[in-house]
Amino acid sequence: MSIVGARPQFIKAAPVSRALRERHVELLVHTGQHYDHAMSEVFFEELGIPKPDVNLGVGSGSHGEQTAEMLVPLEKLLLEESPDCVVVYGDTNSTLAGALAASKLDVPVAHVEAGLRSFDRRMPEEINRVVSDHLSRVLLCPTPAAVGNLRAEGVVDGVELVGDVMLDTALYQTGRTDTTDVLSSFGLAPGAYLLATVHRAGNTDSRERLTAIVEALTSLDLPVIWPVHPRTAKMLAAFGVEDRVVARGDLRAVTPVSYGVMLALLRGAAGVLTDSGGMQKEAYFFSVPCVTLRDETEWVETVEVGWNVLAGADRAAIVAAAGRLDRPDRHPDLYGDGHAAPRVVTAIERHVGTRA
Ligand code: UD1
Repeated sequence: MSIVGARPQFIKAAPVSRALRERHVELLVHTGQHYDHAMSEVFFEELGIPKPDVNLGVGSGSHGEQTAEMLVPLEKLLLEESPDCVVVYGDTNSTLAGALAASKLDVPVAHVEAGLRSFDRRMPEEINRVVSDHLSRVLLCPTPAAVGNLRAEGVVDGVELVGDVMLDTALYQTGRTDTTDVLSSFGLAPGAYLLATVHRAGNTDSRERLTAIVEALTSLDLPVIWPVHPRTAKMLAAFGVEDRVVARGDLRAVTPVSYGVMLALLRGAAGVLTDSGGMQKEAYFFSVPCVTLRDETEWVETVEVGWNVLAGADRAAIVAAAGRLDRPDRHPDLYGDGHAAPRVVTAIERHVGTRA
């Protein structure tokens, strides 16, 4: 049983689902954490993910509400379906609910993207990661750093270095979208604009940080295209800074875009400014320099090799970093070979086995 709910999980589940279904029966459960068409269905359609067997329709809420509303029906479903294994992805409340419901029923949990740490417990995602990892029987790590983080916490059994499933998806999708068409539909020229995304609670829910980011994005030499996450749109309006975004031609806020469109925008950009973990990696996959709008990152290797710079929500630091986007000569394969998903499946088979 695979449990997904939020946008990045659809992207991660796509290749794993394909690999799983070659040899197993997969029951796909959508918690309903993300429910807007542009945040959910469009990804299923574009990435060829099978329609979820069950949608719990949980929607938005506080962390406690959202997680609790997932736990109750998940437990019921697990009792009814009795799966051999539950597969959870990343670090959202859907990950935590899946891992918690399954482990309490002694159903083995496999965590895809295990071992990531920001070492900032104020991030809801950090709590979700730490708890999910410690509840998991199979810990599927994208990087050696993730394996090291788990070892430091005494977690060694069931730990497997498989590479990053997001690279599988990125390679699968490349070539399926025409970059030139996408850029011209937005009136953009290759290499002549920057791409921005902001959605982390730490940035969006702080007036000071969100305002500083918006000010930075309106002070750059190149025009910026910004697909705005619904959480961010809500907070821009709440803080009264919405007008500054839409009114400026050099910072273009657009509604959330599909995965293929996002990849095209990314590949054509001179640089990316983001607080998303996934975007930091995707920028690296396609050799696009990245400025991370956070004080730390889980994807430390992108910073170590010089393709990613941490600028926090500091206006001057963001402007300075965006003004000297560097494309280092060295671009090692930090995230594997794009065949992580089949390794995920073999690792699950090895550690969990399946009933005859
Ligand atoms: C969640 C994850 C985050 C992940 C992100 C990807 C948690 C704790 N956070 O954050 O790790 O990077 O997804 O996008 O699980 N909303 C809509 N429509 C939607 C979904 C959300 O309008 O389809 C709005 C609602 O106002 C909601 C807010 O966005 O309250 C936040 O949504 P939520 O699912 O709580 O968290 P994300 O910020 O999306």
